[in-house]
Amino acid sequence: MTDPLSDYPVGATPLDPDEMEGLRFPHITTRGQLDELEQANIETGLRWLSRLRRRDILTDEFVIALHKRLFGEVWAWAGTFRRTEKNIGIDPLQIGIELRTLMDTARFWKDHQTYMPAEAALRLHHRMVQIHPFPNGNGRHARIAADLILERIYNDRPVDWAGGHDLQKMNDRRIAYIAALRAADSHDFGPLLAFAGVALR
Ligand SMILES: Nc1ncnc2c1ncn2[C@@H]1O[C@H](COP(=O)(O)OP(=O)(O)OP(=O)(O)O)[C@@H](O)[C@H]1O
Ligand SMILES: [Mg+2]
Repeated sequence: MTDPLSDYPVGATPLDPDEMEGLRFPHITTRGQLDELEQANIETGLRWLSRLRRRDILTDEFVIALHKRLFGEVWAWAGTFRRTEKNIGIDPLQIGIELRTLMDTARFWKDHQTYMPAEAALRLHHRMVQIHPFPNGNGRHARIAADLILERIYNDRPVDWAGGHDLQKMNDRRIAYIAALRAADSHDFGPLLAFAGVALR
């Protein structure tokens, strides 16, 4: 089938034909229908999360399982790594090792209190979307993962990502979010912290 996600917001990853094959609802034709199905799946995933009691959430195994819970009812490839190059993301062959390194690093940050909770979560979020482990859903997955870590690991409040907007649509909030991620690509985390309402120490 053709790609119903024709009008991508800036900073989104288009799907290739192989990935479109993984759509579990082959009859949908519009982006709006797909958004609704994905949103329903995410809500089911969030209910699973709210019941979840496991403590090892700072692991690659857990974040992969989380992606599958958030998107697996819609996409057959949920919870599996991307195999193709995208407009964002590292070499697909490096995803496994880089994701494991990231989660090991995040555990180190926690054990050594390297950063304030919000900064640790935002640095993890940035590196996760920079790796871009999955064919799609990386932004939503990595925002949920960052919030989960803030709440469960750091006993802190989640980030107000949307700030009263719809972060998945083109608006000033999304533009600021993507610009902040790009600054973080150049090792400047100030804009991402400011975006999340966190002052630099
Ligand atoms: N320059 C960049 N560097 C790092 N990450 C980026 C960059 N541009 C975009 N991103 C991230 O990639 C995400 C888009 O990837 P993808 O389409 O896989 O996820 P998504 O959940 O469908 O995204 P969204 O729901 O935000 O549209 C953005 O939400 C953002 O988190
Ligand atoms: Mg997307």
